[in-house]
Formats: sequence, structure tokens, C-alpha cells
Amino acid sequence: MTASSNDMKSSRRAFLRGALAAGGAVAGATAAKAAGPDPLITEVQPWASGLGDGVDATPYGMPIKFESDVVRRNVGWLTADVISSINFTPIHALDGTITPQGCAFERHHSGAIELSKKDYRLMINGLVDRPLVFTYADLERFPREQHVYFCECAANTGMEWAGAQLNGAQFTHGMIHNMEYTGVPLRTLLAEAGLDMAGDLSGKWVYVEGADASSNGRSIPMEKALDDVLVAFKANGEALRMEHGYPVRLVVPGWEGNMWVKWLRRIEVMDGPVESREETSKYTDTLADGTSRKWTWVMDAKSVITSPSPQSPIHHGKGPLVITGLAWSGRGAITRVDVTTDGGKTWQQARLAAPGQAKALTRFYFDHNWDGEEMLLQARAHDETGYVQPTKTQLRDIRGLNSVYHNNCIQTWWVKPNGEAENVEIS
Ligand code: MTE
Ligand code: CO
Repeated sequence: MTASSNDMKSSRRAFLRGALAAGGAVAGATAAKAAGPDPLITEVQPWASGLGDGVDATPYGMPIKFESDVVRRNVGWLTADVISSINFTPIHALDGTITPQGCAFERHHSGAIELSKKDYRLMINGLVDRPLVFTYADLERFPREQHVYFCECAANTGMEWAGAQLNGAQFTHGMIHNMEYTGVPLRTLLAEAGLDMAGDLSGKWVYVEGADASSNGRSIPMEKALDDVLVAFKANGEALRMEHGYPVRLVVPGWEGNMWVKWLRRIEVMDGPVESREETSKYTDTLADGTSRKWTWVMDAKSVITSPSPQSPIHHGKGPLVITGLAWSGRGAITRVDVTTDGGKTWQQARLAAPGQAKALTRFYFDHNWDGEEMLLQARAHDETGYVQPTKTQLRDIRGLNSVYHNNCIQTWWVKPNGEAENVEIS
């Protein structure tokens, strides 16, 4: 953490205290009545008096220029260079649940590599009867499945442990994406390699690694490997983008993003975990007493209001206001989301856009009649196991202040009467 970010945090807190003490009662702006006839209604506009682009203009489309700010962003001071780094999904500007690949966050330990289908090989070796090497074309011949799942980096919200830090949902919660994957269940490939499915598989693990220089090796217990892990080659209907692991990545539903190995090249069946770098010195949680918790694979239930939020302020006065956000749980489906406008004094149930799907993002809406006064906005997710998203204080009581990863606490946006919003912490 840098000195400047700490300063940012303390001044924001002081500002919040001051505003609350003053009562903060400035009315919101109301839409001005048009002074005369609206030329957009009464005049023929250029786009209606000429011709548009032909169908040969854009073989593969990009968003229209007016949406050019809906892009991934990184935070320069978070990492030493852009090769081993992270950028963030612009969740504040998206709606629905599917993340377009073009703006879905990226996390690389040694950069995104260009690996063709022709050069692609996947080896399954170790404790199997028939070690095998698959080409891309081989993978295409196994029965496929498709599922929508979220992928959340364990470091998502990691900068917020010590206090309100990054000013925007993109930066606090944007290490997440949600895509429809097509692929072959890992269990199908393990069976092909002669893993004895009827035998005693207790205590068996798979070690998975990528073809990039970092290899990002991770150990996965066999029970999970045989459950819902996918060897995926399509996302949202098209080939994986290079940055998401083209041509093949592992999809490990509900579990931390680090295990979703990209450019998947090898799967070794073992009789124990490897305890690689990525599962020992990294991606473990340091507890209050200084010891580290060994494995934290499942991403607990979490939610965030995406709008209004610091990068998505309210541009209208009091009256109808759509409050919306995302909720998810690595343990199953989201069953309920609550929203508060008064910092948790009173909670109301939000409307889920569609019934929650297991291990996938759920969109919620809270249709509010805004009085134009300041709000302390929060959302709280419930999942099908009965788990309820904790407050920051509840999480700190268990985890202390030394953690980085797996921060699923309730987030607060302070929305001011002028519609601007700020990341704050309340207790
Ligand atoms: N796989 C490889 N081979 N190399 C990597 O650097 N990064 C991991 C994981 N898989 C990584 C990898 C991490 S930490 C995360 S959060 C996810 O990929 C991110 O996936 P994305 O870049 O598609 O968002
Ligand atoms: Co990650």
C-alpha cells in the first residue's frame, strides 16, 4: 500500500464524517424543461438524411465509439509491471450477467501468450493406466457441455481490507467475469486416460499447469476434478480470447480464479498436492495471529452495487432511481439480495432479474424512489446454503487485518445529494 493511497483513505473518511455531521441536505438536480421545440424531434437529423455503413464495413464488430469508456482499466501502482499484473472489468457500466470477453478482466503471471490450435497439446500423465497427449482436434471429438460460471480472482477486493481504498466498483470488485463456457468435462478426459473411476480415489489429486512461462501450477483434489471442472475451448459462443487462455483453459466452477489454468498443457494425477508457489506463498490467507490458512478454494457469497457507484453517478434528480448490482456464490445459487440505503439500519429485498444460477453471476435490481438526500448504499447476498455475506467488521474479527485474498465483505457507497458516489467504510 502506498502513502498516497493511505492519505486518500483518511481524507475520504474525514470528509464522510463532516458531511454526515452537517446533515448533508442539498436537493438533487431536477431536469430542466426544454425552452422550445426540440430539434431532435422537429428537424431531420444527419443520420436520417444519408446512408449508413454497408454490411461489409465491419467483419467483426467493436462497440460504437460512444461506448469507448467501457473498457478494462488497470491501476498502475498495484503491480510493478504490466506483464505480471491485473486489469479490471468495467462492471459499473455493464448490465445483465454475461461479461463480453473484450472487457473481461485479465490476470497474468508472465503475460498473455499466443498459442495456436495447431501447436496445442494437452498431456494427462501420472497415476493413470494410459498416459495420453491430446491435440486440439482430439478434444473436439468428446461430448461437450456448456455452463455459465463466474471466475473471480482471489485478490478481488483485496485492497479494501485496511479501509476504503479504490474509488470505483471496477477497481474494488472488477476482478470477476461471467461467461458461458463450452468444453469437455475433465472427468471424461481422465476416464479416457484410464483413471480407475471404480477404484479408491480418496487422497488423489490432479496437478494442472499452463503453457505460459509462469505455468501457474495448481493442485486440485480429485473430488472436485471429477465433479464439475471443464476443459473449455469456447466462451460466450466463440473461441476463448488469447488473454483468457486460447485455445484451452480450465474452468473450476465456484473456486478461486487462480485455479482456472489458462493455456492448459498438462494434468498429472498424483497422490497428494504439490504445494506449489501459487498455493503456498500466494493465494493463502494470513489470519489475525499471523498463521496462514492452508487452502481457501471456494469463493464465498458476495455482492456489489454496480450503479450508482463512484464511476456511475446519478445524473438525475430525486424520484425513480434504478439501483442495480451483481451477486454470486461459489457454493451454489444466490437466493436473495438485500439492499440498504441507510448504511444497514434498514434492509429491503432486491428483485433478482432471473432466479440465481449455481456458481454464476446474478443480476439484482432495487427500484427506489430517491428523496434526493445522501445515501449509504450497500447490498448483502444470501446463497442457497443459508450463508449471508458478512460486514467488514465481521470478516476482520475472524481474519484480522493481514489478509489480501478472499475479501467478500459488504461494500458501502456514499451517494451524495448531487448524485456523486464515493467508496467509504462505515462501522
Ligand atoms: N493460468 C496461467 N497459465 N497463467 C496465469 O497467469 N492466472 C490465474 C488464472 N490462470 C493465470 C492462469 C489467475 S490469478 C486468475 S484470477 C485467472 O487465471 C484469470 O483469468 P482471466 O485472465 O481470464 O481473467
Ligand atoms: Co487471480
